[in-house]
Amino acid sequence: MPARGEFSSRFGFLMAASGSAIGLGNIWGFPTNAASNGGAAFLLVYLVLVFGLAWPALMAELIIGRHAQSNAVRALQGLARGPLTRRLGTIVGFAGILTVSLILSFYAIIGGWMLAWAVEAPARLLGWEAASSWLRADGLSRNVLFDALFMGLTILIIMAGVRNGIEKWGTRLMPSLFLILLGLIVYVMTLDGAMDGLAVYLIPDFSEALDPQLIISALGQAFFSLSLGVGTMLVYGSYISPRESLSTVGWMVAALDTSFAFLAGLLILPAMYVALASGVEIFDASGALVAGPGLIVAVLPALFDTMGGAGGIISVAFFILMSIAALTSSISMLEVPVAYVVETRGISRHRATLLIGLLITAISLTIVANFGVLFDSVVTLTTEYSQPLLGLFFAVFVGWIWHRHGVLEELKKGHAGVEHTLFWKFWPFYIRYVCPVAILAVYVQLIWF
Ligand code: TRP
Repeated sequence: MPARGEFSSRFGFLMAASGSAIGLGNIWGFPTNAASNGGAAFLLVYLVLVFGLAWPALMAELIIGRHAQSNAVRALQGLARGPLTRRLGTIVGFAGILTVSLILSFYAIIGGWMLAWAVEAPARLLGWEAASSWLRADGLSRNVLFDALFMGLTILIIMAGVRNGIEKWGTRLMPSLFLILLGLIVYVMTLDGAMDGLAVYLIPDFSEALDPQLIISALGQAFFSLSLGVGTMLVYGSYISPRESLSTVGWMVAALDTSFAFLAGLLILPAMYVALASGVEIFDASGALVAGPGLIVAVLPALFDTMGGAGGIISVAFFILMSIAALTSSISMLEVPVAYVVETRGISRHRATLLIGLLITAISLTIVANFGVLFDSVVTLTTEYSQPLLGLFFAVFVGWIWHRHGVLEELKKGHAGVEHTLFWKFWPFYIRYVCPVAILAVYVQLIWF
């Protein structure tokens, strides 16, 4: 078997893992969720859930991955204590692969829109009116082409492997993403209406903070944002050097992801209220703030249109930002099935990536062609049902099936004194009791109410 890939440095891992975590979920999901759920109150609930539940779950995946030095299916099988738990490991591992492949197939559609919008303004500036209106209209040919293009880019990076693909592009793209985001925030803050948006975002309305619906949305958002439950972080964990302290890098990824979501809110909500001040409709028929696809591809382009010449440039910057964020996440999705096939079927990375990548492209194109029927159901099925349930099983594997001693041994690599840290005092209890019970509670809510 060929030597497994490994990230070359802590920085390389952090860029790759935060690249996975930081994506459309941060820039688009978090701000709109916050806006429609009590502003800063949502932010507070979200912080509690990220650090109380999602981060412990992230640690579980990283620890399993590095311990197993293997893909998700083998890793879970390896923790089993007998035939029954081994079978459970196989099922959870495969369900994760299936789920993440489906997540990629809808994510690539949105990624494709972002690419299309990123080239729209240049086309317009060059005077290519027909191209520009084709890129703007939500047509089948545009969506098919850009969906395939986005998948193509994802496939190319994953073909190049861990260091030359995932790590190289993560370290290039993530800092650029940060700079573009900061630049956009500063610019939008100078425009009329920005302060109203800031107020909606940052002034908490506590009457909504304990609403069960808010808590469900915040937990779902936290799990999606940290790429949990499907083996993505497990596989990235398996590429971390044994000399690295997992508890340190784990909280860094959670902190980076959350900071980015917070920053994105400083852009998106002020931008929406700037749009409102320029006469763009930002509320839907029921009076709620526009969220979901409508926000990015309707409200924001309308805002950029009102800005004259600068609008074109801002639009390009914004959609390049979105495309980068989406791409560093989509590669982390494709890596999950690819790692499995490469390691268990003995196929070369090149062929495996091409094969699986094309298969997922085909699924994605099927969704595009039947968008109205399939898109929402695939999103709901994968992110609301499958992801938390699988996350629950990951917690059960670490908290109940794997021996506590084994977990500690893994954590001690790269962090000799971990036994005496606050982390080791609380985390095992969390992953054994708090995480499973809390996820189950949310799940029951979702199914019965
Ligand atoms: N976390 C990414 C985002 O916020 C999306 C993502 C990447 C993801 N890998 C994942 C979501 C695995 C679920 C599962 O956009």
